[in-house]
Amino acid sequence: MSNKRPENMERITTPALADAFIQAQIAAVKAQVGDKKVLLALSGGVDSSVVAALLIKAIGKNLVCVHVNHGLLRKGEPEQVVSVFRDQMDANLVYVDAVDRFLDKLAGVAEPEQKRKIIGAEFIRVFEEEARKQHGIEFLAQGTIYPDILESGPVKAHHNVGGLPEDLKFELVEPLKFLFKDEVRVVGKALGLPDNMVYRQPFPGPGLGVRCLGAITRDRLEAVRESDAILREEFAKNGLEGKVWQYFTVVPDLRSVGVKDGKRSFEYPVIIRAVNTKDAMTATVEDVPFALLQHITARITHEVAGVNRVLYDLTPKPTGTIEWE
Ligand code: XMP
Repeated sequence: MSNKRPENMERITTPALADAFIQAQIAAVKAQVGDKKVLLALSGGVDSSVVAALLIKAIGKNLVCVHVNHGLLRKGEPEQVVSVFRDQMDANLVYVDAVDRFLDKLAGVAEPEQKRKIIGAEFIRVFEEEARKQHGIEFLAQGTIYPDILESGPVKAHHNVGGLPEDLKFELVEPLKFLFKDEVRVVGKALGLPDNMVYRQPFPGPGLGVRCLGAITRDRLEAVRESDAILREEFAKNGLEGKVWQYFTVVPDLRSVGVKDGKRSFEYPVIIRAVNTKDAMTATVEDVPFALLQHITARITHEVAGVNRVLYDLTPKPTGTIEWE
């Protein structure tokens, strides 16, 4: 099948157009896979979640969703995947708790690209093991969207499953491959996915792993996760969710002296980053109200274990990148 979006394809901007797209894709998927089983790596990100919801409508339990919790997801994400897909949509969902496995592999590894490689390779290994446990699977669904095709050319595989071995080569099911991100969101909404899944900000594949700087330790990883949850909660409460393109926290591998409860402390800082961009190639820093930054600082230093300072990153891209690693 061609990898070019049909010229006459209307942009999906309304619920009615989304419904028509969904009905057409349900028919197409049924025609492609019949009564065979389809495997999907369900991260909980926008694209894989929309594919899952669509395929559940088309083939029900013949879709096998595999959610790998690598320990580097944001607070509440693995739980939400289980509650939305298993509890509400009655999906055939395999939940893999691979937290210790990933953190053991990453222990002591400080170099950013090495960390990324380990996370990517381990993900493929875990997914492959789960795929081998399933029998009679002939198809692999992927949340490929049109920008993935435009950016990677005709042969490059989707980043999540690029390295599956030869004997696990499945026929691909890619129902979103001609959609742009905004269209995927309209379709996700029409499929009944929750807003915080559909309008989620971008999140890197290696997750919080690249925001817990240097060699990942469990205490600093928890500090990243908890401070990120506070930041997201406060941005949502103060009307910045959906307005700021990407915002998150980073915990470096350095400690500084402070005072807490009248005693000297020697703890980590949390760095807040909030940026706006069109294409992630350049970015400007969000002008977050100072009073809000002070409030978030107070919450993080009081609520997050092991943290005694909060810093705000004022650096645009360039010279900084959006992430710190
Ligand atoms: P940088 O840090 O390069 O980030 O300015 C640009 C955008 O890409 C995201 N990002 C990643 N996404 N895997 C991903 O899937 C990665 O390894 C990765 N690194 C950065 C980043 O969050 C930002 O949106």
